Amino acid sequence: MHRAAVLVPVAALAQLASAGLYPGITPDNHTCALVDPVLSCSCDAEPGEVADTCCTETYGGLLVATQFWSTFTGRESKGQIYPKDSWTIHGLWPDFCDGSYTQYCDLSRQYDPQPAPNTTDGTPHGTPVPPYKGEAIDNWFEPYGKLDLLAYMNKFWVNQYNPNWVFWAHEFSKHATCYSTFQKECYGPKAAEHADLFEFFETVITFQRTLPTFEWLSQADIKPSNKTRYTLCDMQQALTDGFGLAPFLGCSGPRYNETAAGEGSLDNGRTELNEVWYYYNVYGRPQSAHGKKLAADASGGQLTTCAEAKGAIWYYERAEGSER
Ligand SMILES: *[C@@H]1O[C@H](CO)[C@@H](O)[C@H](O)[C@H]1NC(C)=O
Ligand SMILES: *[C@@H]1O[C@H](CO)[C@@H](O)[C@H](O)[C@H]1NC(C)=O
Ligand SMILES: *[C@@H]1O[C@H](CO)[C@@H](O)[C@H](O)[C@H]1NC(C)=O
Ligand SMILES: *[C@@H]1O[C@H](CO)[C@@H](O)[C@H](O)[C@H]1NC(C)=O
Repeated sequence: MHRAAVLVPVAALAQLASAGLYPGITPDNHTCALVDPVLSCSCDAEPGEVADTCCTETYGGLLVATQFWSTFTGRESKGQIYPKDSWTIHGLWPDFCDGSYTQYCDLSRQYDPQPAPNTTDGTPHGTPVPPYKGEAIDNWFEPYGKLDLLAYMNKFWVNQYNPNWVFWAHEFSKHATCYSTFQKECYGPKAAEHADLFEFFETVITFQRTLPTFEWLSQADIKPSNKTRYTLCDMQQALTDGFGLAPFLGCSGPRYNETAAGEGSLDNGRTELNEVWYYYNVYGRPQSAHGKKLAADASGGQLTTCAEAKGAIWYYERAEGSER
């Protein structure tokens, strides 16, 4: 699903920055072990206050670990299918502290073949984001000894309709380039190529491995079913019990009051569960994965797009042959 968001051009931010994303940053002296971890979105993480934007997440301080539930990939014939009993990774987004966000912040790291939107601010006047035409980025893993990471990503970070790598490239170029802490300069003058990219993917996974959505729902007897519908409130409760605070639940599909079951109702929420978003601030670099959990509505975000009526929500079983 798409988020409604206020898009802030990066140029406007750059003027606030003492260093980082953001012109002026050099590759030297980003040894984060030398500084105390600052909590993102705290007063000390304000752009003007931060000593090294490589060590404190200065811009994308509201992290959102996002997951998908879908029933088919459209690429089953190529062996691209979902992991059984598990949701899949969407990404780890660097929202601004107020929940708005920016995107495609560094066009020198543009690996997304299908940029969406196709300008940096999503308007016709924005800077165009040129489609990536280079080789598939999943070719990059082997030379860096990252085949284990590639195998994990192919299993748990699965795309619909297009090859998995296209989704990873999209998440990296659209979102990861907007973190101050994944800036290329943070990795020093002689960093291995793509160190920032691999470290981003690993950071996404580190967060996601602590977020077993499927199990949390299962423990409340909420299992994929094509026969029984569930109630949003029960799903929210199960995930709040698991995570500790309320995540965002996203639904697609028809609106409840446009379905036969919801006829005459004023509930126009959607009826097919397909997304969950978990919110955090982080101490120091996101790479350290020292998160402080937040409720999804703590920074102005909404809690759901799903219908709230009793028994309104489908949590569909995957298609035959779409999981292993
Ligand atoms: C990096 O740190 C060293 C030691 O403190 C210092 O001499 C040098 O000038 C610094 N370099 C930059 C680019 O800030
Ligand atoms: C972006 O997409 C729109 C709609 O498809 C198109 O009209 C426009 O020319 C594209 N802009 C760029 C910069 O590619
Ligand atoms: C569905 O609910 C919305 C919001 O309560 C209402 O405006 C709309 O008229 C309803 N639609 C139908 C078809 O009942
Ligand atoms: C369950 O329903 C979904 C949505 O209609 C469908 O895509 C899927 O194939 C179904 N799964 C099974 C096992 O019938």
